[in-house]
Amino acid sequence: ASGVEAAIEAFRRGEPVCIHDAADREGETDLIYPAGAVTPEAVARLRNDAGGLICVALGDAVAEAFDLPFLQSELDHPTAADHDLAYDDRSSFSLPVNHRDTRTGITDEDRSLTIRELARAAETPERVDFAAEFRSPGHVHILRGAPNLLADRQGHTELGLALAELAGVAPAVVVCEMLDDHTNEAMTPGDAAAYADSHGIPYIEGSALVERANSL
Ligand code: 5RP
Ligand code: ZN
Ligand code: CA
Ligand code: ZN
Repeated sequence: ASGVEAAIEAFRRGEPVCIHDAADREGETDLIYPAGAVTPEAVARLRNDAGGLICVALGDAVAEAFDLPFLQSELDHPTAADHDLAYDDRSSFSLPVNHRDTRTGITDEDRSLTIRELARAAETPERVDFAAEFRSPGHVHILRGAPNLLADRQGHTELGLALAELAGVAPAVVVCEMLDDHTNEAMTPGDAAAYADSHGIPYIEGSALVERANSL
């Protein structure tokens, strides 16, 4: 199977993939899981092997059903007045949440519970009272996908959600940047691909996923 097909199959099985967005965008590789498959051990891998911010991207329709806004539009503070990102028009951050059954919210057990419950909620959003199940602020950052996914924006948010759509899993995916403990920079694509290879994880370029989605 090509890289993209292997990534779709891995995702369908509940296994992670690595996706590099593009050299002219963030130039980062995220370790990405379907949210419903995230165990405490997976959270430990995300924080130890990836090391970035652990986020859950939700599809636009799901976020709409839960009344989840973009965080920037909710903040009445001068820091949110202008989002001068170097690599995109806007961020996809929504609210940070914890499931109400968590205690501190940060442990591998707590974060994996919040993440799996977000995936479960995303399967039948119309049946979920979001605020009854989750509190904000919390320790899992929700990202809101663009309505038309890759046609609108080509961030890891949309790349992960597009992969979920291709794999037929719920529109809830965990993304976390792979960082380098020695250079203190983002992991290079070569090092991320080597990590993926040594762990049997598919590594793909965002452009390959965009092509695959366009071919449908
Ligand atoms: C949140 C981020 C990451 O880059 C994440 O990959 C989602 O953002 P984007 O869709 O912009 O790539 O900044 O940790
Ligand atoms: Zn980022
Ligand atoms: Ca590390
Ligand atoms: Zn990203």
